[in-house]
Amino acid sequence: MHRMSDQVREWGVIMAVGRTPSYAHLIVEQGWNDYTRKEHETWKILYDRQLEVLAPRACPAYLEAHKTLGFNATQIPDFHEVNERLRSLTGWEVVATSGLVKSKAFFDMLVDRKFPSGNFIRRRDQLDYLEEPDIFHDLFGHIPLLTNQAYADYMFEYGKGGARAIKYKTTKNLARLNWWTIEFGLIKTEVGLRIYGAGLCSSFGEAQYCIDDPSAHHLQFDLDRCMRTSVYINDFQPVYFVIDSFESLFEQAVNTDFSPMYESFKGLGEKQLAAEYLPFDLFAGDSVLRQGTQAYIDPKRQLLESEISI
Ligand SMILES: [Fe+2]
Repeated sequence: MHRMSDQVREWGVIMAVGRTPSYAHLIVEQGWNDYTRKEHETWKILYDRQLEVLAPRACPAYLEAHKTLGFNATQIPDFHEVNERLRSLTGWEVVATSGLVKSKAFFDMLVDRKFPSGNFIRRRDQLDYLEEPDIFHDLFGHIPLLTNQAYADYMFEYGKGGARAIKYKTTKNLARLNWWTIEFGLIKTEVGLRIYGAGLCSSFGEAQYCIDDPSAHHLQFDLDRCMRTSVYINDFQPVYFVIDSFESLFEQAVNTDFSPMYESFKGLGEKQLAAEYLPFDLFAGDSVLRQGTQAYIDPKRQLLESEISI
């Protein structure tokens, strides 16, 4: 059920800064007391099987954060409890939202250090995949790494960059960057190549595929390349971009001069500068860490090309 004191606190923050944010109408209560026993059991099924897959594949910072935030299989976490811990670490919080959070509202939330999360959990017949992000994707997948200062700072910078992308009409490119990093990124760690993207951390099949299956390319992360590389959303990816560290991701975000890059995306000046890449292919200048066989992708490449959405 709704907790009035927390809603007042939430809106108090909004009123204290003297403006009504663009996302205010999207915020809802998590409604933790309304979860049924069956929904908590669904969380447990998802949690147990995913942790088993992630233990040898997810980056240590992500796995450690589960403990820091008190996540466990027993029940769906209560946002109020998660936020007490998260706020004290990096100043971020998870906020329940309803409906689609479009670009501007999403950017504005990130600038206010709020990460949107669906409050519903998928049905039992949707354990492996559902299109609309639920609490298992948003909370389980996205929130743990917001305990990491460099990752949290990157998310803030990403949100700040939204206004410039809107001005240049390049939000599509910024969305691609989000896709190839925060959703489907890999990272080099002391214990080897690991997952950090939320889309991978919350996917039973793709968390295994991206590392174990030789199909997909692994490319060294390059901000410009990611922004040019198109995306389809309904199948495993043909390419993953690998960052050196969250610190390096943050540094690239703050040290890049986006304005000339955005001008080039629009094809101003030399036409080839506006080149867009399909996610299946390798190009001159790519730093290839693993050339994938594309065996998983090739039989359905034509279909996936027709489903390019970003
Ligand atoms: Fe996501």
